[in-house]
Amino acid sequence: SIPVITVDGPSGSGKGTICRLLAQRLGWHLLDSGALYRLTAVAARHHGISLDDEESLQVVAAHLDVQFLAGTTDDVKIVLEGEEVTDTIRTEAVGADASVVAAMAPVRQALLQRQRDFVAAPGLIADGRDMGTVIFPEACLKVYLDASAEERGSRRYKQLISKGLSASLEDIVLDLKARDARDMNRSVSPLKPAPDAVILDTTKMTIEEVLEVVLDEAKH
Ligand code: CDP
Repeated sequence: SIPVITVDGPSGSGKGTICRLLAQRLGWHLLDSGALYRLTAVAARHHGISLDDEESLQVVAAHLDVQFLAGTTDDVKIVLEGEEVTDTIRTEAVGADASVVAAMAPVRQALLQRQRDFVAAPGLIADGRDMGTVIFPEACLKVYLDASAEERGSRRYKQLISKGLSASLEDIVLDLKARDARDMNRSVSPLKPAPDAVILDTTKMTIEEVLEVVLDEAKH
């Protein structure tokens, strides 16, 4: 069967970067599951659907009209209902909305098969919160990345500043903690390591160090 490596963890743990590099190094496909929750939130806003209308949100998630287009750089271009949203889905506001819709069981159910459909030869790197626990329980390697909230906040801050966006470190850390609490305490697919996950605290690790550890685990 086609191998899957899952990488789960909280916001700012380095999942996104590590997954992109892993996919490049191994030549495997990449699933950015968080993008699907972000896209659901954006599409809902687009159609004037309130974020407490579970039934309509489920319909939005089930019918997401999205394309992930491979670009000239290593970044994919994301097109929602014909409109490019690559950058707009990355804002902190959309992240907060995503974690609200992600707490709804019908929304998660609507996105389940779409995520499994990303599996393709020669392999898949799956980035998210419940990749190892719910979506790909049979994965050949499960990684759980963590880091202190302060370190994760400062990483996110640097990311935003480097994109020329203005940001407040204090607000980012507060927002991260609120999002973590929502992700870990929700009743459906709460964020937690799979029992068989390799847990890495990346607080004092560089991206390159994390990558080496994961690639080494992948050889076993
Ligand atoms: O980049 P960051 O880690 O901040 O966010 P993301 O991975 O794009 O995910 C945004 C939100 O979607 C998270 O806060 C989760 O609430 C939700 N999510 C989820 O519930 N399950 C996933 N597999 C991925 C994301």
